[in-house]
Amino acid sequence: MNGECLAELSGVSKRFGNIVALDGLSMDVRRGELLAVLGPNGAGKTTAISLLLGLHQPDKGKASLFRQPPQCLDARRRVGVMMQEVTLAERPYGKLSAGQKRQAQFAVAICGRPKLLFLDEPTVGLDQQARAMMWDILRTVVSQGSSIVLTTHYLEEAQAQQTAWWSWLRVVSSHPAR
Ligand SMILES: Nc1ncnc2c1ncn2[C@@H]1O[C@H](COP(=O)(O)OP(=O)(O)O)[C@@H](O)[C@H]1O
Ligand SMILES: [Mg+2]
Repeated sequence: MNGECLAELSGVSKRFGNIVALDGLSMDVRRGELLAVLGPNGAGKTTAISLLLGLHQPDKGKASLFRQPPQCLDARRRVGVMMQEVTLAERPYGKLSAGQKRQAQFAVAICGRPKLLFLDEPTVGLDQQARAMMWDILRTVVSQGSSIVLTTHYLEEAQAQQTAWWSWLRVVSSHPAR
């Protein structure tokens, strides 16, 4: 990919106490691409996104967002985010089913047409029809000029969606058995 680099992790390591969440991971997200971050539970996918968003600091290496430190307000303003664990105002949102909550979070993330969209396990809890709809919307979002970083542990689902404009990254934990 030759597009402008929108977000980058370069040789980042992150520990939580004794747990090594990431060990020297490098990745970059280019303009116009959907980057799928694949890996089993515990591989460090959410941690990688959190570093790109400035929610955690790397112990080693460097994270940047729009060529700035991820904590920089100017960089953050240009992103849409849907994290794995989200709390929104309780009612009426609190009464939605798990899948409906995911759809509501997705709508919030894409509204405002962010330049870069972070989606952490966006299809968890969705039925087949809702998943298909989400993939369709993602394709449209990219065709309209946004870029996407998406994590999933559903490798087969992600592979079924693969098209030429996807880039791939598999995060493999160096400590898989914890
Ligand atoms: N805030 C935290 N405190 C302690 N351990 C954490 C924290 N966040 C993540 N971890 C641990 O780091 C590892 C990677 O977690 P995570 O990035 O959530 O993986 P994934 O999103 O790929 O499932 C896991 O072993 C997890 O338990
Ligand atoms: Mg996760």
